[in-house]
Amino acid sequence: MSLKLEIEKRKTFGIISHPDAGKTTLTEKLLLFGGAIQTAGAVKSNKIEKTATSDFMEIEKQRGISVATSVMSFEYKGKKINILDTPGHKDFAEDTYRTLTAVDSVILVVDVAKGVEAQTRKLMQVCRMRNTPVIIFVNKMDREGQEPFDILEELEQELQISTRPLSWPINMGSRFKGVYLLHNHSLNLFQADKTKKASDYINIENLEDKQLDEIVGETDANQLREDVELINGVFEPFDTEMYEEGLLAPVFFGSALNNFGVQEMLDTFVEIAPSPRPRPTDVRDIEPMEAKMTGFIFKIHANLDPNHRDRIAFLRVCSGTFERNKFYIHSRLDKKMRFSNPYTFLADSKEVTQFAYPGDVVGLYDTGNFKIGDGLTEGEKLEFKGMPSFSPELFREVVNMDPMKSKQLEKGLNQLTDEGVAQLFTQQPGNRKIIGVVGELQFEVIQYRLEHEYNAKARFDAVNYHKACWMTGDEAKIAEFIKYKPQDVVLDKDDNLVYLAQTPYLLQMAKSNNPEIEFHETSEFKVG
Ligand code: G4P
Repeated sequence: MSLKLEIEKRKTFGIISHPDAGKTTLTEKLLLFGGAIQTAGAVKSNKIEKTATSDFMEIEKQRGISVATSVMSFEYKGKKINILDTPGHKDFAEDTYRTLTAVDSVILVVDVAKGVEAQTRKLMQVCRMRNTPVIIFVNKMDREGQEPFDILEELEQELQISTRPLSWPINMGSRFKGVYLLHNHSLNLFQADKTKKASDYINIENLEDKQLDEIVGETDANQLREDVELINGVFEPFDTEMYEEGLLAPVFFGSALNNFGVQEMLDTFVEIAPSPRPRPTDVRDIEPMEAKMTGFIFKIHANLDPNHRDRIAFLRVCSGTFERNKFYIHSRLDKKMRFSNPYTFLADSKEVTQFAYPGDVVGLYDTGNFKIGDGLTEGEKLEFKGMPSFSPELFREVVNMDPMKSKQLEKGLNQLTDEGVAQLFTQQPGNRKIIGVVGELQFEVIQYRLEHEYNAKARFDAVNYHKACWMTGDEAKIAEFIKYKPQDVVLDKDDNLVYLAQTPYLLQMAKSNNPEIEFHETSEFKVG
């Protein structure tokens, strides 16, 4: 098959949600449609148990599952669909943000009762930064929840995206009858059935048709007529271009658990979701159709088994054809590398692959060469953009507990932060090290790994910081700012200046007193 056909065939996306909204359940139903698994219950949730265990090894055992389920591929209607899995636990949110740099679109799952939740908001913020097209699935319609119009309003307001329902629910909870498909005028009747694979649609071209009253009852039929009239009056017709630009999200209602409402969403997804899109670099935008292979590392999964120190680096192929055993250049290190056992992933297994194409994800064995964001090319030197660091939310100072092992500690901290486990900031003078993480669990991860993998001992002392903000702007003003706040300005690993604000108030003050300096909550400003 030609490269063009391979590219057109692929749709690489991620499912995002607040924990418990139904991401795992929906993933499983999509795989059932794709025939990638045969029975429900085959996909193991990679989320960390809700009991929020503080036993780190237990967490890692559970996290281990996610290597196999990091990427799940299946074929549907002639398309090759790659789902990139994202960890549900909020302490690993940074992992999710990075995975979103490797997808071409997302499906957002929202619980009809809970609406927009904290994680939903954050993840959508990341999607908006790169105009990722979004399809929304409002889940758990078999339970009581908010009124559909209220949910749409909340989505629009809170996520700053326009919506357009393509299916519409008829009642909800125990009185949930099903959905009416607005784009092809058919009725999909709800049955609580977890094993059902395909939906039977009833064509109802004209909603005035009395058949509707017979099927769903007069009250619900009238409500549907009223709702559809309102929808047609209020919402613009669905516009694919606006969807592709990340400005408009089509919305479907259903119940993932009952495999209801999923098929029409999947059918729409294969029709409208974008094929691999160009990727920005410091030199130029890389087009998927370019003959030469390029790709970048968006995730590194360490093997915590002390007998197997290897890591798996996940490469998103951006252009050309990736080939097994071919030499590529690691752009940052200017190092020739080839891979004899590159993996691609199926629903719940992985296999050695000969070729991979734009949109595909390849797992590469790594002995410590890669860091998040690294590019692999056929020789061209370039740096992929859009791999931002986000302001951590928790900060601690690293105190070396064994002066004989400072080299090991330094190496450990460097490698772990290369993997993206945490961010490292250095205060000068004094070389004081501060690490920032998104969730408490990561301190445990780091402490454990420093000790077991690097033979270094460190203590983490509380430091009172609220946010890390990358600074750009007038150099003289920045120098002056540093003079007044030498303790609070640090360097990140790439030597960018970062202001560690102690409180929201002080951050606000810093911003209003220094209009010539920009304070960024992500390092994304580097993207031109
Ligand atoms: P997540 O990956 O987004 O965290 O959510 P997950 O799919 O694990 O779903 C969270 C809970 O919500 C699960 O119940 C799941 O069965 C339930 N759920 C998912 N979709 C629906 C739906 O359409 N209707 C209803 N009523 N429930 C739904 P659990 O009790 O936490 O786990 P489990 O024991 O059922 O696995």
